[in-house]
Amino acid sequence: MCGIIGITGREDAVEGIIRGLTRLEYRGYDSAGVVTNNGRDLRTIKRAGKLEVLRRALDEQPLAASTGIGHTRWATHGEPNDRNAHPHVDPSGRVAVVHNGIIENYQLLKAGLGDARFASDTDSEVAAHLAARELAALDEPDLLTAVRRVVSQLEGAYSLCFVALDEPDTIVVAKHEAPLIVAHADGVGYCASDVAALIEHTRQVAALLDGQIARITPEGFEVVDVDGAPVEPHRYTVDWDLDAAEKQGYDHFMLKEIHEQPQAVADTLLDRLNAPPGGGVPRLHLDELRLDEGELRRIDKVFILACGTSLHAGMVGKLAIEHWAGIPVDVEVASEFRYRDPIVDPHTLVIAISQSGETIDTIAAASHARDQRAPVISLVNVVGSTLARQADGVLYTHAGPEVAVASTKAFTTQIVGCLLLGLYLAQVRGRMYATEVSDILARLGQVPAALEQVLDLDGEVRELAERYHDSPYTMFIGRHAGLPIAMEGALKLKEISYLHAEAFPAGEMKHGPIALIEPGSLVVALAPAGHVFTKMVSNIQEVKARGAAVLAIGSQGSVVALKEHADHVLTLPEPPHELAGPVLSVVPLQLFSYHVATRRGEDVDQPRNLAKTVTVE
Ligand code: G6P
Repeated sequence: MCGIIGITGREDAVEGIIRGLTRLEYRGYDSAGVVTNNGRDLRTIKRAGKLEVLRRALDEQPLAASTGIGHTRWATHGEPNDRNAHPHVDPSGRVAVVHNGIIENYQLLKAGLGDARFASDTDSEVAAHLAARELAALDEPDLLTAVRRVVSQLEGAYSLCFVALDEPDTIVVAKHEAPLIVAHADGVGYCASDVAALIEHTRQVAALLDGQIARITPEGFEVVDVDGAPVEPHRYTVDWDLDAAEKQGYDHFMLKEIHEQPQAVADTLLDRLNAPPGGGVPRLHLDELRLDEGELRRIDKVFILACGTSLHAGMVGKLAIEHWAGIPVDVEVASEFRYRDPIVDPHTLVIAISQSGETIDTIAAASHARDQRAPVISLVNVVGSTLARQADGVLYTHAGPEVAVASTKAFTTQIVGCLLLGLYLAQVRGRMYATEVSDILARLGQVPAALEQVLDLDGEVRELAERYHDSPYTMFIGRHAGLPIAMEGALKLKEISYLHAEAFPAGEMKHGPIALIEPGSLVVALAPAGHVFTKMVSNIQEVKARGAAVLAIGSQGSVVALKEHADHVLTLPEPPHELAGPVLSVVPLQLFSYHVATRRGEDVDQPRNLAKTVTVE
């Protein structure tokens, strides 16, 4: 979704801004722009389309200044065109702003500005008008004070970044429910919506908390609340380096990230056991736990809340928690949760799953549950993200930075995280002995090697993608742990190849979806060995009898039977535990989508209309 970078104190700020925006491209956007402040005027250049278009415009009309801000926009209010691209400047040309999020009361605020002329259809522009008006009303112009007064009028979610003509070495930023990072290194002040834009300059960063406002100059930054009182942001050191955010020889980030899964899973499993003080059998632990284990023993229900791919990982989490910890679990789309009347109380545990930790729907759902005093554990990838900070307990996935919009390594590490949470709850509640937990953990330790074997199927998968890259409709079917993977397979194909794909519980086919099957329809069936395998074989026969072409994802134990019924079988190694099976079986589906999309010439890493981090509801 939208990206922000601001730089002050660097000779050629624009070059740095464009580099930063390039690192934010992965978030998904449809237009981009920059503004510079040289103390004489605020100059903006903004263009619909990819950064390349903006770069060309800047080549024709270079902007030189030591202070500037840049933005990549993912349209919410107003179509993606030059006019609606950020930055927006007030009519007097004194204040410019870029904005992520949505200002919900913008129409009311616009009305309050009388007959002011607006140059765009956005909700964001009003912030520039308001800041200019507040600045003009001050005896001593001071952008920080003006911005404090602006944000006290705003409703909605935002991160805002301002420059003002009279303060050429200053950037002022404000945060409410959309991420914003500030940093200072070697005489340059920075702000960004995401550490990826800053990592080449520094790893020491500070994430603003909701309600915080910062003034950034080449000397450093100060952070205050809306009343102007000094406050502390969340300071931390980024634990990954620039290399992790580069393609390293792969054609696409998605392919690189698919291949990083064995390492990512190994890292997520690493050091999970702690010897108790005084000796004894090591116990599984969470990374950050701000709640009493006694509370977890009193839990009688779990809600898993997430969006997109993370939701599918949560569906595997339900199976693990119910199986090992014996607690009933509901998995729910986060954006639906707070708009019904979920029965939540202090005995309800909420597990919020998110790669970014910044998905607004998931954050809002988790805080709705916390308002009802439910403990929240978050399973997140980005250290220090909002969800991680707000939760009572955190389990980090150690996937490293995920750049491609279509999530892959975050997903497999989330499943591993869910298995760990299932084991953790079983341990805390005395449902499993510590030795049983460590035995299963040891078995999970074999998953990375099994993943390496799965990746060797790439050639076979590519041939299948070649054959089916034009298939207009693909059905994915599965049961038990295969169902979330069927859903994830369909999502991946939709996201990056734009082909129609749907997933169904295999047993549900006969209640409707089977009517869609016609000769040649492609059905992908998740059918590894396991307790639902024979039922899957029946479901495969049903679609086969109606003329479908079946691609079965099997395992060594199921391949012989599958070969009798399916047109193609991809054979996976047997997982070390049935609940770890999804970590393996999703990989051929990730590769299939990848090869179909590249064969069709689509932009795999930045698919149309999608964003990596969705910070609007
Ligand atoms: C977007 C991304 C998906 C992701 C979802 C949830 O839709 O395109 O890949 O699964 O958001 O993101 P999160 O960061 O909360 O896991």
